[in-house]
Amino acid sequence: MTATLLVLNGPNINMLGTRQPELYGHETLADVEALCQRQGEARGLAIDFRQTNHEGELIDWLHQARGKVAGVVLNPAAWTHTSVAIRDAILASELPVIEVHISNVHRREAFRHHSYVSDVAVGVICGLGTHGYALAIEHFAKRMVEIA
Ligand code: DQA
Repeated sequence: MTATLLVLNGPNINMLGTRQPELYGHETLADVEALCQRQGEARGLAIDFRQTNHEGELIDWLHQARGKVAGVVLNPAAWTHTSVAIRDAILASELPVIEVHISNVHRREAFRHHSYVSDVAVGVICGLGTHGYALAIEHFAKRMVEIA
C-alpha cells in the first residue's frame, strides 16, 4: 500500500507568487504542489497537499490525519508564531511533523524567531525557498526506508 504524506499550508500561502516575491519568490502555490507531487512520485509516496486560511480547518485536518498518514510537512505560516492550538493539535495527532518555512524567519522580525511548533517537530527547514518542501518529503522517504 502506498504511504501518504500530508503537506499542509497555513494562511496567505495561497498568495504565493504575488505576495512579497522578494521574500517568497515567484512560484505559485500550484507550482509548490507540482513540486511536492513530483518529489512524492519519485519516492513512491502519495501526497495530499492542502492550504487554508482558517486555523480550525488546519486543526481538523491534523486530527483527521491521526493514524492515517505517514507524516506531515507543515508550513504553519503566521500561526507558527501565534498558535498554541496548532501545537496541541500536532501533539494530539501523534504524527511526525517537519516544519517548513520558505523564508529564513531568523533573518526577519524578532516576532518570527519564536515558533510554537519547532520543539514538537521532527525538524525544521527554513530559508531554502520552496526546495524546503522537497527536502522534507525526501527526509520522510529516507526515514521510512530506515524504519521498514
Ligand atoms: C512563512 C514565514 C512566516 O513568518 C510567515 O508568517 C509566512 C510564511 C514562510 O514560509 O517563510 O506566512 O511561514
